[in-house]
Amino acid sequence: MNRLNRRTAVITGGGTGIGRAAAKRFIEEGAFVFIFGRRQEALDAGVADLGPNARAVNGSVSNLADLDRLYAAVKAERGTLDIVFANAGAGSPLPLGQITAEHIDDTFDTNVKGTIFTVQKALPLMGAGGSIILTGSSAGTTGAPGFTAYSASKAAVRNLARTWAEELKGTGIRANVLSPGATATELAKEALGEEGQKAYGAMTPLQRMANPAEIGAVAAFLASSDSSFMTASEVAVDGGLAQL
Ligand SMILES: NC(=O)c1ccc[n+]([C@@H]2O[C@H](COP(=O)([O-])OP(=O)(O)OC[C@H]3O[C@@H](n4cnc5c(N)ncnc54)[C@H](OP(=O)(O)O)[C@@H]3O)[C@@H](O)[C@H]2O)c1
Repeated sequence: MNRLNRRTAVITGGGTGIGRAAAKRFIEEGAFVFIFGRRQEALDAGVADLGPNARAVNGSVSNLADLDRLYAAVKAERGTLDIVFANAGAGSPLPLGQITAEHIDDTFDTNVKGTIFTVQKALPLMGAGGSIILTGSSAGTTGAPGFTAYSASKAAVRNLARTWAEELKGTGIRANVLSPGATATELAKEALGEEGQKAYGAMTPLQRMANPAEIGAVAAFLASSDSSFMTASEVAVDGGLAQL
């Protein structure tokens, strides 16, 4: 399939996990992809894996100057931008009673503030036919014990697509949320441990965790004109976890 031929994409958190899998799929479908994240070794491994149609920019989504460098690099090499997959995210569990201000600030700085500025700073490069995809989570819908800050941050992300679909009226740019459930990535391993991951998979009607490529495939659909009449939507790719 060449659904993304000649399209330029930015994927935050594109060095690992869901972002890397999406980058791979976007490139297979014809796109040129900039991956963005903080760990240079993850970016280097990503570019080595993704090949000549990938570039990497090092930085944090919660640092506005880093985002300016990202979009300056996109503008210098490609001129314009078609797809933003605001996917960088983080979260660790802390039960109610032990939550700290720092924990909330860290989570919201990345997942909410980072998502907002990733998109706001991309807009000057985007035009009609553009697609914005935000990574939400099944945790934004369900109650997940221990995940007060993370779940609240992902519920906030879900609203961003609703608000932006309104604000982007007339531009031809669409904004949707892709909400994974249990997906086998570093983040899931760190947040849940081996036993927690098994339990997370078992809670899912499909009785397993997703492979990141299964999320990347839906990101490619949302990036492409196959989803041309979708905006403000949340697409759950969660094996049914948050749908029962
Ligand atoms: N795995 C799951 O079960 C699951 C379920 C629902 C939703 N999600 C969401 O899916 C998205 C991707 O996560 P993943 O599961 O693929 O885990 P992952 O492999 O840990 O990916 C997270 C990515 O985000 C990047 N990142 C984190 N903080 C960042 C920051 N401040 N600035 C720039 N990049 C940052 C990380 O790179 P650096 O650390 O190098 O910056 C990493 O590449 C996240 O938004 C997560 O909340 C995951």
